Amino acid sequence: MSQFKTQEEAEAAGVYVQKIRSFVKREGRLTKGQAKALEEFWPTMGLLHSDGKLDFEQVFGRIAPIVLEIGFGMGKSLVEMAANETDKDFIGIEVHRPGVGTCMAEADEQGVSNLRVFEHDAVEVLADCVADQSIDRLQLFFPDPWHKKRHHKRRIIQPDFVQKLRAKLKIGGVFHMATDWENYAEHMLEVMSSAEGFKNLSQHDDYVPRPENRPLTKFEQRGHRLGHGVWDLMFERVS
Ligand SMILES: C[S@@+](CC[C@H](N)C(=O)[O-])C[C@H]1O[C@@H](n2cnc3c(N)ncnc32)[C@H](O)[C@@H]1O
Repeated sequence: MSQFKTQEEAEAAGVYVQKIRSFVKREGRLTKGQAKALEEFWPTMGLLHSDGKLDFEQVFGRIAPIVLEIGFGMGKSLVEMAANETDKDFIGIEVHRPGVGTCMAEADEQGVSNLRVFEHDAVEVLADCVADQSIDRLQLFFPDPWHKKRHHKRRIIQPDFVQKLRAKLKIGGVFHMATDWENYAEHMLEVMSSAEGFKNLSQHDDYVPRPENRPLTKFEQRGHRLGHGVWDLMFERVS
């Protein structure tokens, strides 16, 4: 890519550049329940990257604050939050198909109607489907930590990406992250603290206590018992 300054320039010139992605696509087999959920609920809950820019009013049939979650896994906490905060509309983005199936099945079981999901790379969904200054809260819970130093470039939190996220948040909107990997927490804090346009909502300019609205997962409960830490970070878009 040497003669091109950015990936976009290279692509525009027709040069294929391998993108550094924050995930490795694991195909994973679908359980019967997941396959059934994908078939049954996709027409009401699924959103397609190829449909382009979203019109939230059209999608949800109302105007309400929008919460967008990147990498929801199986969607357990996302569904719980959507069920608890019915005054808001939720959009989840996940590349792992079985997780999307489980999430929709769970949402149906709990009678959640304020949730829609993408099965796609969140980086592309944000760029192509989400209007600037349209999101009230962005959530990134337990992103893949990419433990090895040589893989740190795959971590989704990077200065460039954070500015892309900032553009999507409304002024006053909040970016909420959580991780159980201390080195990633430090990396998040470092990147976010030097990111233009954000204010740390922590009293001590580091981490915040887990907000009540982020459900405590079983995995976290177990971690607490074993003395493992979890770090929550909240940054407001101020400009
Ligand atoms: C460690 S898991 C955590 C899942 C969930 N948030 C939780 O707390 O249980 C990270 C998830 O992020 C997803 N992911 C990673 N990069 C992504 C991207 N660019 N777009 C969408 N999902 C992504 C992965 O597929 C994986 O399911």
